[in-house]
Amino acid sequence: MENQERKKRALSCIQPTGTPTLGNYLGALRNWVQMQEDFDCFFAVADLHAITVRQEPSKLRQQIVEMFALLLAIGLDPQKSLLFVQSHVPAHTQLSWLLSCNTQFGELSRMTQFKDKSAKHADNINLGLFAYPTLMAADILLYQPDCIPVGADQKQHCELSRNIAERFNGLYGNTFVVPEPFIMKTGARVRSLQDPTKKMSKSDENVNSFISLKDDKDTVIRKFRRAVTDSEAKVRYAEGKDGINNLMEIYSAITGLSLDAIEQAFEGKGYGDFKTAVGEAVANELTPIQERMNTLLADKAQLEQLMRDGAANASRVAGRTLAKAQKKMGFVQL
Ligand code: TYM
Repeated sequence: MENQERKKRALSCIQPTGTPTLGNYLGALRNWVQMQEDFDCFFAVADLHAITVRQEPSKLRQQIVEMFALLLAIGLDPQKSLLFVQSHVPAHTQLSWLLSCNTQFGELSRMTQFKDKSAKHADNINLGLFAYPTLMAADILLYQPDCIPVGADQKQHCELSRNIAERFNGLYGNTFVVPEPFIMKTGARVRSLQDPTKKMSKSDENVNSFISLKDDKDTVIRKFRRAVTDSEAKVRYAEGKDGINNLMEIYSAITGLSLDAIEQAFEGKGYGDFKTAVGEAVANELTPIQERMNTLLADKAQLEQLMRDGAANASRVAGRTLAKAQKKMGFVQL
């Protein structure tokens, strides 16, 4: 795969914490499926990132397998994309240390995710939570990608990765490709259904605020019907209508209809009809994914084999970059 240098390379990862949401799907996962046709792609389950917040081991183990199965279920094809689990490739933690020594305390202190998560988990503000962006930079830079397809919330981390790469290249000579974040216009920031000023998040305590990719059709429709909107009762995209804007963006991302076309289609109809339509469209997208996932999870041996293949292929690519970085920094190579 790594010899097809003419194709641009893309890399992205997702944490196996909680069940992924519609936000993860529209902001990232679905775009990965489209990208695998045109890019040389690397996608990983970022399990090492998950332990920056305390996890129950047996649950974490299950979630890693489920997330890997989900990547396959949404349509990522191991023949086209390199799919792997981060902890199976030791080069990630190895490069992370080298990058940590080239990352400033001040830079990491400015990360909004660190500020948010340390406020939320005040009893466990650990070193890993603080250093998280350097591990993420290692995830990225090891594979020399041109672009990183992510949702808008990861832009700051991607920019830090670029800064780290540029600094390293400047100090030690050209080592890393400096990648660009790639953020789609629709679906980049799916918002909470209960508080549309916040992003939809799998760690939200209110289960009605997010659509889990595991939610069945009735649950999806019920959650959309309960979504917080405004009192205008007109399907119109406008400033101050965060709830309706969010639903329109979700509907647009799923159906491909423009916001104008949606306004026209729901002219004279109330929010009730629109919410049901959004719920049905989302449920129809999720049902086949859920069915494929159940089939995949029934064959653990096949999943493990795919993980093993992914780990071996990813380790080859990552090992080369790690060796290059070690050499540039002055380590003795055997
Ligand atoms: P994570 O696991 O929180 O989310 C995975 C992807 O989903 C996107 N996303 C959203 N997009 C739109 N609307 C939302 N409400 C929403 N919520 C999540 C995220 O932007 C992300 O693209 N640090 C990363 C994982 C990671 C990574 C990497 C990503 C580790 N190493 C290297 C890229 C490259 C994270 O926690 O994503």
